Amino acid sequence: MVEQWKSRSGFILATIGAAVGLGNIWRFAYVAGENGGGVFLITYLIFVILIGLPLVIAELSIGRRGASDTVTAFEVAGDGTHWRVVGWIMVGGALLILSYYSVIAGWAVRYFVGALSGDLWQDAGEKYGAYFEGFIANDFEPLLWQALILIVSGVIVAGGIQKGIERINLVLMPLLGLIVLGLAVFSLTLPGSGAGVRFLLAPDWSAFGRPSLYLAALGQAFFSLGLGMAVFVTYGGYLSASTRIPGAAATVAAGDTLFAIVAGLAIFPAVFALGGDPAAGPRLAFVVFPQILLQLPGGTIIGPVFFFLLSAAALTSMISLLEVAVACATHRMGLARNQVAWVIVGIVLVLGVPSALSYGVLAEVKLLGQPILDNIDQAVSNFVLPLGGLLVAVLVGWRIERSRALADADFRDTWLGSTWLWSIRVLAPITIAVILLRSLGVM
Ligand code: PHE
Repeated sequence: MVEQWKSRSGFILATIGAAVGLGNIWRFAYVAGENGGGVFLITYLIFVILIGLPLVIAELSIGRRGASDTVTAFEVAGDGTHWRVVGWIMVGGALLILSYYSVIAGWAVRYFVGALSGDLWQDAGEKYGAYFEGFIANDFEPLLWQALILIVSGVIVAGGIQKGIERINLVLMPLLGLIVLGLAVFSLTLPGSGAGVRFLLAPDWSAFGRPSLYLAALGQAFFSLGLGMAVFVTYGGYLSASTRIPGAAATVAAGDTLFAIVAGLAIFPAVFALGGDPAAGPRLAFVVFPQILLQLPGGTIIGPVFFFLLSAAALTSMISLLEVAVACATHRMGLARNQVAWVIVGIVLVLGVPSALSYGVLAEVKLLGQPILDNIDQAVSNFVLPLGGLLVAVLVGWRIERSRALADADFRDTWLGSTWLWSIRVLAPITIAVILLRSLGVM
């Protein structure tokens, strides 16, 4: 008998925990920074509502019907064996994401410890770039911190659904919500913070003409929600029939988006108040932000809090990715959860070695002119996740019979249900296909 969530709120918080992660803080801040702030935010919101939310509903409905793991759920939903392969592909994808995601999560833990011990503040000012580079260029250190956070995730997943995953999210997610709100209030009271708020919330309409904006916004919507990797299929597998899926999915999508906006309100006002560059790229959270913190009154106290937030948010997402694979191995192969969890942590560590060392020993190894980690990150958000979303849309929209698809997702045959199905059948696949073809350079 497969375990179920203890409470609806436990399920919602665990699912928000999966969605809220490095994507909302580290990635949202720099992608919004590079793509014009307010303009990016509007485009991103439209994609979340029209494509992201319908797909979250679709994933959850496949999962709940299967009431087991991803591979089983795809088998049941597809009513034929070949859809099982899609399930396995997603398990592989989840492990691939985890392998490099845990590397960046490891950086966050390293920075948390450095900020606590004061180590981080020593290389003041200009030298921050050197601190970051010095750390990621080290032969072993990145691997060590990555292993640490992977082991913590392993302990939690080995504990099971109610006692492991649900319990940690019940504690961490409200706490992280409070922390990010507190940080935003702090940033907004800085003199000169208004420019940061305007940057994030006031659109510069001319930027809508840039095609790269749409690619970036869709990729971010997928990554931030955590779509296309069967995380919602897996968490939906533990969901009881009494929880209405559309309402739960809307809460999760709203929570994830709100979290990103509040995190933006914590980061951009501080960046602008001190004249930093909002388009600093992936280095924004690890180089520009610590530099800014040091110049603020109380910044050395805010520092550890910020990096705790980053590490803990990453942890709750890592748990969900790990669970995708652990659930399949336990249910399909009949293995014990607490043993499987460790085997998979080991596999992810090995898979992650090239990413962890991609700025150090392997810095010379470049694909398409970029370090390995950057390549995997781009391949995942621009290709693997959208492809996963496309397959889910085809399965729910075209393979499953209309009335069953609606019933599985708790929709009646009203305009709301038809709108959802229209997005799943037409809007989502076409948008994703266009963006996929473009990212492959075909269009
Ligand atoms: N949504 C997570 C984040 O924002 C990342 C993630 C991607 C989690 C894909 C699960 C699946 O950091």
